Parts: sequence; structure tokens; C-alpha cells
Amino acid sequence: MTMANNIPRRSIFFLPIIIGATTTATMFPSVSTAAASVASVASSFVEQTKNDNGSNSNNDDDDSNNKWITHRLEEETKIEDQQQQQQRPFVSAAFSRKEYTNSIVASRDTNISPFEVYDTILQLKTKQRQVEVTGDNGSSSSSNDNDKNLRALDVGAGAGVSTQVIYQQLGYINIDAIDWSGDAWNTNVIENDIGYCPSTVKFYELDDERFVEQWKQKEDDKYDIIVFNFAVNRSKALYFCQNLLKKDGLLLAPINAQQDYWLKQTYQLLDTDGNLLWSAIDVGAWSVQFQPDVTQDTCQGIWCMPYNGFKKLGR
Ligand SMILES: C[S@@+](CC[C@H](N)C(=O)[O-])C[C@H]1O[C@@H](n2cnc3c(N)ncnc32)[C@H](O)[C@@H]1O
Repeated sequence: MTMANNIPRRSIFFLPIIIGATTTATMFPSVSTAAASVASVASSFVEQTKNDNGSNSNNDDDDSNNKWITHRLEEETKIEDQQQQQQRPFVSAAFSRKEYTNSIVASRDTNISPFEVYDTILQLKTKQRQVEVTGDNGSSSSSNDNDKNLRALDVGAGAGVSTQVIYQQLGYINIDAIDWSGDAWNTNVIENDIGYCPSTVKFYELDDERFVEQWKQKEDDKYDIIVFNFAVNRSKALYFCQNLLKKDGLLLAPINAQQDYWLKQTYQLLDTDGNLLWSAIDVGAWSVQFQPDVTQDTCQGIWCMPYNGFKKLGR
């Protein structure tokens, strides 16, 4: 007896799909879920056909079954595409625009910081590893244990260049990125073809004070690292250390050299108690000076109320 006599005609048609999908699932584990689903859809279709007991002479049935399986295959392909997209890293189109020692305009409210800033953010990796290895903070766990649970807060995320450094170079997948102005983010991350924001990176178009209010209401988790990208008074940096950082967390901020003086900052790395771990007045050839904190009444210049339309919380 020939194979055609044993297996219904439609089953022979779908046999290569089953074999192909099953092989794909075995050879490429990353696409195994979708491939396995295709195999299972096609295989259940063959089961159904076998149960038909060979009574497959109706062409209308054939057509509707073919449409059904084509539809299912398209659905599975969509799921597979979505899974692959999830794995794409965060990208800002502004990343390649940064320059040593110069700020570059990204929008009315946002400057891309000088390259030295992004080099300094990278220090968080080294410093965090040192803290973990020496056990200064009593921690015995390595950050490799649970990298996927690590959380970063990017304050003043602007065009997303700092976010890209945190995601791609520091390896933080879960990032809350905030900026009171979303213009530079929209232009470089959302609307630009080069830009890409995975679902684990969340942008909040909020100033830090409004964000903290929301964070408290949600009783959200604390962060492993916090990066400030605008100048702050020491009291604000300490508040974030003591309230939003995890026990072994680290905060990097350009802190005003004097209270409410916005023309010169010291870059500082602080632990959860606000202890100073590292600081720099100049980074390479660049003398640390950032855009000011828009929420402060003492904020001066074009980046501040009333020139930029910002309204402070509660006013
Ligand atoms: C130097 S830019 C940041 C550049 C950005 N990190 C990047 O890499 O593309 C400083 C940003 O801080 C924002 N900013 C200033 N004060 C803020 C505040 N209190 N809360 C949130 N964002 C603030 C400004 O809107 C501006 O986009």
C-alpha cells in the first residue's frame, strides 16, 4: 500500500510544515516557541484530518482549511516578530551626535551633554562592581546574579543618549527615564527610524518632583542606580539617595558647588546614605557645568521659568 493510501491528501501537504517547524524549534531555541506552536497547529490539523477518515473530497472544506492554516501561520509569524523586537536594545538617534567638551542642542529644552558626561556615567559599572566585590556595604551577592531585576532611574533623560548608555553599556534593561520636556525624546527615540524603545524602558514626561509624587503613590520599587543629568542642590541629591535608592544603590549627580549657584557643579557619586564615593570638578578637558534644575525658584536663564513655560508642582 502506498503512503498516499495511508495518509489523507491534506496531511501530505502539511507534512513539510510540521517537519520544518519541529526542526526549527530544535535547532534555534530562540525562535522555538513560535516554531513549536506552528508545529502544534499543523499537527493538530493533521489529527483533525485523520479523524475525517479520509472523507476529504469537498473543495470548499479544503479552501476554508487552507485559509485557516494560512491565518494561523501569519499569526505565529507576528508573535515571533514581536518576540524578536522585544530583544532589540534601546537606541536614541542622538547617540552619535555627542561631542567631547561641547553641548549640542537637541530641542528647545534639552542639550545633549558633552561626551565626558557619558564617559562618567560608565563609571557606575566599575564603582558598583567595586562595592560588591569589597563588600563595603555588607552585600555578598554579585550583580550578575539578577541583572534582569536591576532598575535604573535616568533623571533628565532628554534625547535618550544617557538612557542608551545605561541600557547598552551598563546593561540595565529596566529603566525609568524622566524629563519634564518630552520633545527631544519624541524626536530621537519615538519618531526617528533609528530610535527604538523596548517595553522595559519607560519614559515619563514629568519633572522629578511630580515623578517622585507618582512613584510614592504607586509604592514602586527602588532603584539600583540613579543618574542625574541636570544640576541639583545637594539636598535634592540626598533625598533621592535616602528614599529612592536600594540598600546597595549608587547615585551620580552634578551637585552645585554652592547652594543655588547654577554656574558650577561637582560631579559626585553617592551611596544610599549620601556618603561620597567619588567626585570630580573637571572631567578631562570639560569643566562640569550642566543645565539647571527647572523646578528651583533660583533657576536662572533660558532653561528656567518663565522663559520655557515650565510650571512648578502645586502652583
Ligand atoms: C543636559 S540635558 C540631558 C541630556 C540627556 N540626558 C541625554 O543624554 O540626551 C538636561 C535635561 O534635564 C531636564 N531637566 C531639567 N530640570 C529637570 C527636572 N527638575 N526634572 C526633569 N527634567 C529636568 C531638561 O529638560 C533637559 O532635557
